[in-house]
Amino acid sequence: MTATTFEHYPENVGILAMEMYFPSRCVDQSEMETFDGVSAGKYTIGLGQEKMAFIDDREDIQSICLTAVHNLMEKYNIAYTDIGRLEVGTETIIDKSKSVKTTLMTLFGEHGNYEIEGIDTTNACYGGFNAFSNAVNWIESSSWDGRYAIVIAGDLALYASGAARPTSGAGVVAMLIGKNAPIVVERGLRSTHMEHAYDFYKPDMHSEYPVVDGKYSNTCYLAAFDACYNRYMGRLGKALNKEKPSMDDIDYLVCHSPYAKLVNKSFARASYNDFLKDPENEKFAPLAGFKEVSYAESLENRDLEKACVGMTKAGYAQKVGPAAFVPKQIGNMYTAAVWSGLASLISEVDSETLKDKRVLLYSYGSGLAASMISFRITGSTDGIKQKLNLRERLAARTIAKPEDFAEAMAIREKTHNVRDYVPSGNLDHIASGVYYVEKIDDKWRRFYKRKD
Ligand code: ACO
Repeated sequence: MTATTFEHYPENVGILAMEMYFPSRCVDQSEMETFDGVSAGKYTIGLGQEKMAFIDDREDIQSICLTAVHNLMEKYNIAYTDIGRLEVGTETIIDKSKSVKTTLMTLFGEHGNYEIEGIDTTNACYGGFNAFSNAVNWIESSSWDGRYAIVIAGDLALYASGAARPTSGAGVVAMLIGKNAPIVVERGLRSTHMEHAYDFYKPDMHSEYPVVDGKYSNTCYLAAFDACYNRYMGRLGKALNKEKPSMDDIDYLVCHSPYAKLVNKSFARASYNDFLKDPENEKFAPLAGFKEVSYAESLENRDLEKACVGMTKAGYAQKVGPAAFVPKQIGNMYTAAVWSGLASLISEVDSETLKDKRVLLYSYGSGLAASMISFRITGSTDGIKQKLNLRERLAARTIAKPEDFAEAMAIREKTHNVRDYVPSGNLDHIASGVYYVEKIDDKWRRFYKRKD
């Protein structure tokens, strides 16, 4: 028996194309502050969010994924028969058996392609990362048939009214995966951390809303970040033959973004981890007084957090800011949030600047599952940036009133799991080229149409 070696793998496996779908309506977070009667700045500064996308009962997880796949294929002129794997990461469950992937097969069936591997993956916001890993692993395996893979990460991030609601949002990222990509996965560096935690979960099948212990979920997120970061850095150190690899070896950081402030804190946390490995280094002077803080205390210590955030302010603007732009404009998208950060980076930084840069990506899903990988930008990202056209598309959205958002949430609550139903949402809110729910019949079967 001969072991397969790296030489047999296709080269430069990674992301060849990206498309993003987000709803045409959003609310302004400062108006939400007034509407919710909280202090000015709580959502915009405290959480760091600007806009929050929402949908009513006219769209569901399947319709938004149909839109994303169709637009990816159309914009990049990809043949449906060239796809050999389609992976979906989502935690928006509308059926306990039938996957979203099988519904997406309607698009491929129309072109006679029924041989497509892959299925849905669910674990909070982590499903998209798992879907991505499955696609990359397939291309790097003996099962690969030479065709492309598509990864879909999409969710409706919905919360009951209360502290978590301003971290709602909705969106999908679709990616074409293959060899000789401009955005290449760096081999041998991936790190993972998984454990059991009840920080955010969805045990109530009659509700779209999670049960969430918000503060605890933040701590879980940051602790999993530490674990992934330190494992990743251990591997990077070996790869670079460097004793103390650090954030200096990373050009950009993209994190799962439930809200921007937590991403800011993660970046600060990376430097804290670097400091622990190199405490005498002059550049960490502002943290000198925190050498003796225990690990558990480090996750709670506000002075330490403040010192880390202050010390990394300039680095944040350069290394994290470009990836934070889009999630700030849409809100949480659960599985899609981290990939929307990558789309944001590609859109905000020109291709020349990105060339040869290392992008570190952190995916977190409650419960909990987390991983970290890095990409190397080896080719032009101009085409992806132009096709995403995110700044223009985000600016073209309708800014709805908070009352419209509340009404849309009320309609969704009332009609969750219903059958024999025609959605009441106004089709004027559906843009052209977007799929919507036409009806749900008496057997809960869903029918979709694409708006001309
Ligand atoms: N101006 C400026 N900042 C303000 C203001 C104001 N007027 N009011 C409050 N703030 C700050 C607070 O100081 C706090 O800052 P800090 O995070 O640096 O401490 C921040 O705004 C949040 O306010 P809090 O009162 O501490 O928290 P709140 O009760 O609003 O809950 C939370 C925030 C926990 C994030 C909530 O929105 C939530 O549960 N969200 C969903 C869970 C989540 O996203 N978890 C993240 C990982 S898991 C996942 O991805 C789903």
